[in-house]
Amino acid sequence: MDINLEGRVAVVTGASRGIGAAIAKAYADAGAKVVLTARKLEGLEKAVAEIGEDRVHAIAAHAGKAEDAERVVAETLQKYGRLDVLVNNAATNPYMGPVIDAELPAWDKTFEVNLRGPLVWTQAVYRGWMKEHGGSVINVASIDGLRAGGPLAIYGITKSALIFLTQQLATEVGPNVRVNVLAPGLVKTEFARALWEGAGEDAKYPWPLQRLGQPNDIASAALFLASDAASWVTGGLFVIDGGGSLGGPFS
Ligand SMILES: NC(=O)c1ccc[n+]([C@@H]2O[C@H](COP(=O)([O-])OP(=O)(O)OC[C@H]3O[C@@H](n4cnc5c(N)ncnc54)[C@H](OP(=O)(O)O)[C@@H]3O)[C@@H](O)[C@H]2O)c1
Repeated sequence: MDINLEGRVAVVTGASRGIGAAIAKAYADAGAKVVLTARKLEGLEKAVAEIGEDRVHAIAAHAGKAEDAERVVAETLQKYGRLDVLVNNAATNPYMGPVIDAELPAWDKTFEVNLRGPLVWTQAVYRGWMKEHGGSVINVASIDGLRAGGPLAIYGITKSALIFLTQQLATEVGPNVRVNVLAPGLVKTEFARALWEGAGEDAKYPWPLQRLGQPNDIASAALFLASDAASWVTGGLFVIDGGGSLGGPFS
């Protein structure tokens, strides 16, 4: 199967490192032009240098802000003339602990970036390009949005709602626009450092595929969903976690 994004243009939020940077690189390697966004230009410039300046462009933008989304859409259309793929990848997790004790500023901040963000960025690309020309939106949720009771309580609630938001949007924006959601398990990035640091490079994890995820494991799925190979896929939830959320003898 040929996964080719030649002639396509993608915007990836949270693309300066981790999963977002891996997705941006996978898209650029497949032939797309990619706009990388994150809050800090310094990190973005590093990612641009690693991927190759001729294929990507960096714009500093906050993932929770509608005005930033609109600015990125306008600048992308001005520079590349189209916008076929949006990846809502950026997220935050300022609070660990029981939701019953949660302070509202942490709740609001998590919802602003993790849920309101994907909505306002999708609205901006839809109104600015995809409604008329079509496209693919890929949201990055988490297996923490699939089961209650974990320590990342507010974060898990936003990711659960992001899965529902994906499915709702998919019912509204077809047939030209597809909307899908990825639910990664534990991936070796800065974001999850506290959860994997200290385990050692060769650690065998107690789940079927026995290893930690790498950003490229998630980028492969994002590449499929951006491409024509996924042209009959919308509203889909893709769990990519080495089998960790299956339960069974190791859980
Ligand atoms: N790693 C895991 O184990 C794991 C598991 C399940 C799901 N996920 C999900 O995967 C996605 C990416 O996570 P990651 O592990 O790759 O994280 P990461 O390595 O920490 O990267 C996060 C990226 O998001 C940007 N970012 C953070 N807050 C932002 C904001 N308010 N506005 C714009 N950009 C922002 C960061 O750059 P700046 O700081 O410069 O803004 C950075 O580019 C998230 O949605 C996360 O929930 C991760």
